[in-house]
This record gives sequence, structure tokens and C-alpha cells, in this order.
Amino acid sequence: MKIAVLAGDGIGPEIVGQALKVLRRLAEDGLKLEFEEAPFGGAGFDAHGDPLPASTLKLAKEADAVLCGAVGGPKYDALPRAQRPEQGILRIRKELGLFANLRPAVLYPELVQASTLKPEVVSGLDLMIIRELTGDIYFGEPRGRRDNARGEKEGYDTMLYSEPEIRRIAEVGFQTAMKRGKKLCSVDKENVLETSRFWREIVIDVAKKYPEVALSHMYVDNAAMQLVRNPKQFDVIVTGNIFGDILSDEASMLTGSIGMLPSASLNSGGGGLYEPIHGSAPDIAGKNIANPLATILSTAMMLRYTFNKDEWAYRIEAAVKNVLAAGYRTPDIDEAGAKKVGTVEMGDAVVAAL
Ligand code: NAD
Ligand code: IPM
Ligand code: MN
Repeated sequence: MKIAVLAGDGIGPEIVGQALKVLRRLAEDGLKLEFEEAPFGGAGFDAHGDPLPASTLKLAKEADAVLCGAVGGPKYDALPRAQRPEQGILRIRKELGLFANLRPAVLYPELVQASTLKPEVVSGLDLMIIRELTGDIYFGEPRGRRDNARGEKEGYDTMLYSEPEIRRIAEVGFQTAMKRGKKLCSVDKENVLETSRFWREIVIDVAKKYPEVALSHMYVDNAAMQLVRNPKQFDVIVTGNIFGDILSDEASMLTGSIGMLPSASLNSGGGGLYEPIHGSAPDIAGKNIANPLATILSTAMMLRYTFNKDEWAYRIEAAVKNVLAAGYRTPDIDEAGAKKVGTVEMGDAVVAAL
């Protein structure tokens, strides 16, 4: 099983380093893994003048799975859009057809006190956000700058979803719900947006194939509120690219920290890219304080979804659980009585728990 390793920028190399230690530990126990690293994001721009260098894309396409850290940073913010690190991640998603982004928000019981919400609101939380990842206002054309009829400059983007795009992500939503609590909430802005009206129609049509799934619809503004009011009402959420981006950052805080939320970005062939949902955190980069658990948990998702090695995925998740139960915390999780550790020490603790 060949894994392309794209550490990226900021805390990317630090957290990916810990995830690699975990995978290498599993390789000692017989998991056949091969790794190849390549520059990506700002690092790709520095090495080859391109956030997704051709050689990196080639490696990612040939590999069985891709492990990513994060990209971006102030050093690159003023570059033209095509050269910005963020374009690297958007392009690789498109190139690999990674339309289904699974972002599970699970609260480990050990972290109940770490959430900024009351324990009774979040304890037992286990929700899956399914975010469409290769369409919507992220990719819609036309986009750009222009002069309007009044001679003013304006910027514009296009929110757009085709029927096949909605159908395939709705299918992922229903199939995921069937394997879980059989509840699917489709989040949109149907009261305002034509894209959302169409989205809702198609989701309702796909629902006919899944009579066992209780389908509900919610406007995104309400969903943002309900996520902090009563997040346990949700089982599976399916939504478009931009709503999913925003709601998943919000959901991450229910689990104690954005440093806890892993993700899988999947294509129709089972291939996938695995990365934490957070960014390159330039404010804490290079200080050995970033939480590596989201990245480590992303490797568990890789073993589960691309390699069909559920029992190995479970080993990683159990090790993370043990480490949290033992009281280890990186500084993003501010808890009285915790054993404060750095990025590397947290990685070591997970390896020891394995
Ligand atoms: P961010 O997620 O990088 O950081 C938000 C806050 O959360 C910061 O205070 C950061 O220190 C903290 N944080 C994030 N991950 C953490 C971790 N593992 N442990 C502890 N604390 C953590 O978001 P931002 O600051 O809005 O963006 C920074 C850069 O990252 C930007 O260039 C942005 O475009 C990029 N970004 C990249 C990705 C990606 O590569 N997939 C995702 C989001 C943002
Ligand atoms: C994410 C990030 C990316 C996104 C950015 C960096 C392009 O925020 O993976 O959630 O908006 O999808
Ligand atoms: Mn995001």
C-alpha cells in the first residue's frame, strides 16, 4: 500500500511526522506500507513555483492513498490566486475526483470537560458531516473581477451544482446513514438560493431509494445554531462545499478542539486523501504545540476507507482513546489536571499505546 505524503506548510510537517510514526509502528506489526513524500502548497510553490507541482500530482495519482498535513501561510497570502497554497488543495481534490468529504465529529468521553459547551450538551456526541468537495461556489464559473454598468469594480463567484453532483453526494449521505442511525439531515439555503432549491429536489428524489432513512432538511443558518444548541439531534449531515466547510469547523469545537477532527476525501473508486480539517496554524507552527491527533485519526480513516483494514483503524482509535484517558493533552485542550505534552510527545504516547 503506497501512501503519498504531502506534509505542506506551517504545522503540516510536525503533525504529519507524528502520523507517520504511528503508521510505521503498525508496519512493524505487519501492515505493508510504503511512503513517498512530495512538496505541496507553499512548499510546492517554493520548490517548483506551483502549489501542486506536476511531480507531486503524479505521485498522488499513482499512490493508493494520500496523507496531507495542511497548506497556507502569511508568506503566500499576497500571491495571485493560482499560485496560492490553497489552490494546491483545491486542485488535488478536483484532479483526484474527491467529491465526498467525510468529517466525523466524535467526542471522546475523556474530553467532555474540554469542550466549550456544557457536558450534557456534548457528551456522547457522534455525528458525521458529509461535505460535497468538488463543486459549489468553490469551483463554479464564471468568477473574477469586472467593471459593472455603473463603472464600479466588483468581484463575483458562481454557486453551481449539477444534478449528477448532487445525486452522488446524496447517495453517500444515505448510504452512510444506513450504516449508522438512519437519520440524514440535508443542509441548504433553499429559502434564498436557486442552487439550494435544486439541491433539495434532488435529495428528495434520491430519498425514494432509502425508505428506511429519516430525511430532514434544515437551513444552514439554523443548522449553525442547532449545532451548538443541541448537536446530538444529528446523525448524518449532508451539505454542499461551502456550508460543509463552515459547519465542520464549528462542529470541531464540540469535540474539544479543532485539532481533534480528521477527514477522508473520497472518490468513486475508493481512493482517498486524508487530512485534518484544520489549517496550517501559522500562529503556532514550529513550537511543538500543535495537536497531532486529528492527523493521526485521519490515518485511521485511511486504513478503514481506502485499505479496508478496519481492525487496524480501530487500533489507532483505541490508542488515541487510551492516551486521552491517561490524561495527555496538547495545549489547545485546556483542562485542569491534564498532563501537558507537546506534538512529538503526543505522537510518542500514541505509539506507546499501540
Ligand atoms: P487554522 O485551522 O490553521 O487555525 C485556526 C486556529 O486553530 C488557530 O488559532 C490555530 O492555532 C488553531 N489550530 C488549528 N489546528 C490546530 C492543531 N492541530 N492544534 C492546535 N491548534 C490548532 O485556520 P486559519 O488560521 O484560518 O488558517 C491558517 C492557514 O491555513 C491559511 O493559510 C488557510 O488558508 C490554511 N488552511 C488550510 C487548510 C488545509 O490545508 N486543508 C484548511 C484550513 C485552512
Ligand atoms: C478545508 C480548508 C480548505 C477549504 C481551504 C484551505 C481551501 O478550509 O479543508 O476545510 O476551504 O476547503
Ligand atoms: Mn475549512
